[in-house]
Amino acid sequence: MITEFITSLLTPAPKWSKHMGFLNESIAIEARARRCREVWKPHQQKTKESILDAIKACDRTRTILVVGSGSCLDIPLTELARIFERVILVDIIHPLKAKKHGFNHVTHITLDITGQMEALYHNPTSLPEFYVPDLYHDFSDIDFVLSLNLASQLPIMPIKYLMHKSSLDENILNQFAKNLIKAHFLWLSGFKCPTALICDKTWEKLDLSGKTIEIDDPLYGLIPQKNTWEWYWDVAPAYETGTEFTHRNRVGYWSNFRFIDSDNIIAWSDIQNNKR
Ligand SMILES: C[S@@+](CC[C@H](N)C(=O)[O-])C[C@H]1O[C@@H](n2cnc3c(N)ncnc32)[C@H](O)[C@@H]1O
Repeated sequence: MITEFITSLLTPAPKWSKHMGFLNESIAIEARARRCREVWKPHQQKTKESILDAIKACDRTRTILVVGSGSCLDIPLTELARIFERVILVDIIHPLKAKKHGFNHVTHITLDITGQMEALYHNPTSLPEFYVPDLYHDFSDIDFVLSLNLASQLPIMPIKYLMHKSSLDENILNQFAKNLIKAHFLWLSGFKCPTALICDKTWEKLDLSGKTIEIDDPLYGLIPQKNTWEWYWDVAPAYETGTEFTHRNRVGYWSNFRFIDSDNIIAWSDIQNNKR
């Protein structure tokens, strides 16, 4: 507890992101990663293998942009630093430990990749219009862009914040959550260089016999297109949940990801009618 408190004081983050819970969430993820070190290893390994597979599509290796780098536990950082002239790691919070790698050409940029969180913090009762950011689209030396275990996380903190600060209807919140993810996919698809998407496809709850008893769609009906690989991430074993249930995520890797119209399989009207 004391370590986590000191970490929260020392980790740089703008006031709005602290108040929206991003810093606490990042510290909580680090603590969970420590407790679940062994069971998370296969997922981290498969993520690293996917990244190394995805970058084979690069003709040039000047700059790689990684969004969702966080604690860097699922990034083959040494290999990327060897292959690329510059590695840009983007996250809304960079844990202090993630910066201790010793590579001068690996930079950490603290940035909200949706471009909407600060406005939402100041005005939680009126939701921003659907908006696709163009961050980094004009960097001509970027040769690869990776969205790393991030997409399904994008709505979590803003939705918690909105539930606390506004009385917006659940359907409106669902649509806002979906828009954040869709805008991220469109942003990723806006690069001319090769890209990769690694993100949760399902969130599953299992009983202790291993039977799946609940499946949630963290992508709100987006992306039916086939992924390159997929695997299970045992995200919370029983000792972590403290219950008779465990949680696992099905994680997908899409090499050279491009969002297409047919990826939006559930229409807004269906969400309004609670058909999700
Ligand atoms: C599941 S973690 C990714 C795992 C991470 N690569 C690791 O090794 O720990 C999701 C990451 O997304 C980041 N994130 C969430 N919302 C974000 C946003 N709007 N902009 C940028 N990063 C965001 C979180 O801070 C967190 O580090």
